[in-house]
Amino acid sequence: MAALMPMDDRDGVIWFNGQLVPWREAKVHVLVHSLHYGNAVFEGARIYNGKVFKLTEHSQRLHRSARMLAYEVPYSVEELDAATRRVVAENRLQAGYVRPLAWRGAETIGVSAVGTKVHTMIAAFPWGAYYEQKAIRLMTARWKRPSPESAPAGSKAAGLYIICTLAKDEALAAGFQDALMLDYKGRLSEATGANLFLVINGELHTPTPETILNGITRQTVMDLARRRGLKVVEREMWPEELARASEVFLTGTAVEVQPVAAVDQHEYPIGPITQMLQEDYAALVRA
Ligand SMILES: Cc1ncc(COP(=O)(O)O)c(C=O)c1O
Repeated sequence: MAALMPMDDRDGVIWFNGQLVPWREAKVHVLVHSLHYGNAVFEGARIYNGKVFKLTEHSQRLHRSARMLAYEVPYSVEELDAATRRVVAENRLQAGYVRPLAWRGAETIGVSAVGTKVHTMIAAFPWGAYYEQKAIRLMTARWKRPSPESAPAGSKAAGLYIICTLAKDEALAAGFQDALMLDYKGRLSEATGANLFLVINGELHTPTPETILNGITRQTVMDLARRRGLKVVEREMWPEELARASEVFLTGTAVEVQPVAAVDQHEYPIGPITQMLQEDYAALVRA
């Protein structure tokens, strides 16, 4: 995507602090606090048939993410929802992705962010499948998800993505499509932009959300699985269990329900439970 069409050189409009501005003019100063200290928070939502799936949940999570970083998004959830609908409509998007972002301004350069103004933008653009492959290969990353005492893991905070970008680019360089991260205790956690599920003895097992982003898709897919009568188990999970899984998949707004063909040396088929949940999710988001 990036090589074909740079993100800062497109037609359309971006919602920027309450106004729709031409895409190429949605700019910030080089001294904004969040650029230096990583404390922007963001969201990612998908548009299906012109509507944003779980829009309010995403707006609410943007608020929660900011609060975990000790600031408030200056627009209510209702205002963010309305702004998102407006930006999707103005850009005439039937399908695509929405990227809201809140960040602290350039009022001060010190580590303390007291006195900075909070800014907000919402961009929406076409975005197809996240991966080219029907089933992807994951490499276990050397980067670990931090303890909740070391970082606000539940926040979709820009700074937390430095390990995701490093892990993903190392996996790509090694010929994989993405990385699987363990956490600070060595437990299974998540991929760089998606949550992890293992099918073990016909049940769905997924790591507890202590050191991961508790994805909106993760929660949706757990509901879909329960509606199908599957047992869903949230618990501590360990890398040794990868050898026992009959199917592995990821969930996320961008990746949807994504089959995993391999984690390191372990290989998996695209199994019936993954396929069923993929179909159920595809139907639900377009319902
Ligand atoms: C690190 C990480 N984990 C999990 C997810 C999945 O979350 P969601 O299903 O809310 O998109 C994402 C994507 O937002 C993510 O970036």
